[in-house]
Amino acid sequence: MVRPSRSTRSATDTVATDETLRLVRLPLADTLRQLHDSDSTVALQRGIEALRRQIDDPCSALRAASAVDDVTTFSRRYLFDALDQIAAAFTLERARYYAARLLRATLEVRTGAINDIDLNRWKEYDDILTDSLWLFDRRDSSGVHRAGYWGNFVPQIPHQLMRRYTRRGDLVIDPFAGAGTTLIEGRRLGRHTIGVELRADVVEQARATLAAEPDRYGALCALEVGDSAVFDWHAALARHGRRSAQLAILHPPYFDIIRFSDDPRDLANAPSVEVFLARLGDTVARAADVLDNGRYLALVIGDKYAHGDWIPLGFLAMNEVLQRGFGLKSIIVKNFDETTGKRSQKELWRYRALVGGFYVFKHEYIFVFRKK
Ligand SMILES: C[S@@+](CC[C@H](N)C(=O)[O-])C[C@H]1O[C@@H](n2cnc3c(N)ncnc32)[C@H](O)[C@@H]1O
Repeated sequence: MVRPSRSTRSATDTVATDETLRLVRLPLADTLRQLHDSDSTVALQRGIEALRRQIDDPCSALRAASAVDDVTTFSRRYLFDALDQIAAAFTLERARYYAARLLRATLEVRTGAINDIDLNRWKEYDDILTDSLWLFDRRDSSGVHRAGYWGNFVPQIPHQLMRRYTRRGDLVIDPFAGAGTTLIEGRRLGRHTIGVELRADVVEQARATLAAEPDRYGALCALEVGDSAVFDWHAALARHGRRSAQLAILHPPYFDIIRFSDDPRDLANAPSVEVFLARLGDTVARAADVLDNGRYLALVIGDKYAHGDWIPLGFLAMNEVLQRGFGLKSIIVKNFDETTGKRSQKELWRYRALVGGFYVFKHEYIFVFRKK
């Protein structure tokens, strides 16, 4: 899909690791056209040098944008890498090819159907993960994000999933909303969110947290108290004027490893793994009811030990989803963040592992499915 380039891009859309340059689009495009039309490599090199100087000069016509100018933003690293590539081309023909590509990235946005990633600038998105091993050295604790809720996931998980599988304005549903991490990220990224959580006290606390998160895009951010295994998503969406969802993120209890409540409907209180999986399956079916065909569902879950045996909860849960009209797109392995409690028991677990012949859990899974 090709559309005219947006005049501004949000900081959350682009890489925040280097400087973001705001450049006046038309003179930049004219200069790139001239580079493209250069009749010798010497003229081309000179043109690139002049352009680099202009970009670095805050007073140049490229940089000094007025309120009415049509502005395009580039990450500095991306733009200079692209200019280096043109300069380093072996032939004039190749250099023209790279110049034309940069010109396209200046003038138009090309996105796929399910996200806002500008494919004309794909190299700019180096913060979007595409490998199946996710190693986070610390959780994002910016703004209202807190590690306080026992069992909440790192905000980077819903952040990555929403950037890959939704566009701004899409609706994301979360049947195990907990402290509202998905909803906070949705609010930041301009994605509408509806979450369901069994514990009324947790919902109340999450609503208070969400109220403190700046609402830049006016995105819907609704939390309801309910049992997601029997939840009526159609009615919930209708209450908010929506008919379907574009992404579902499920982060259920990992069966009984954390006690969230005394409520028998709580998946953590299921009497057996079989009942846990059946209720999880019901939850998936309910969510799938409102998910558009071709859109994605992500399941975040880890394994557990019982009576000395490794219970592959993740893969058992994966099978439940596969039986409900989904195809498997990816299995991501993510490192387990060390909680304070576990850190103090680390030595003890290492000793037990050596004695018992097992391994200490250090990972969980993010299964990514696509609705057929
Ligand atoms: C692993 S936590 C999810 C944490 C969440 N991702 C966050 O970052 O805060 C699982 C949550 O599911 C809730 N839960 C358990 N059974 C439920 C059910 N049947 N319906 C809705 N929520 C349920 C628990 O109370 C708990 O808050």
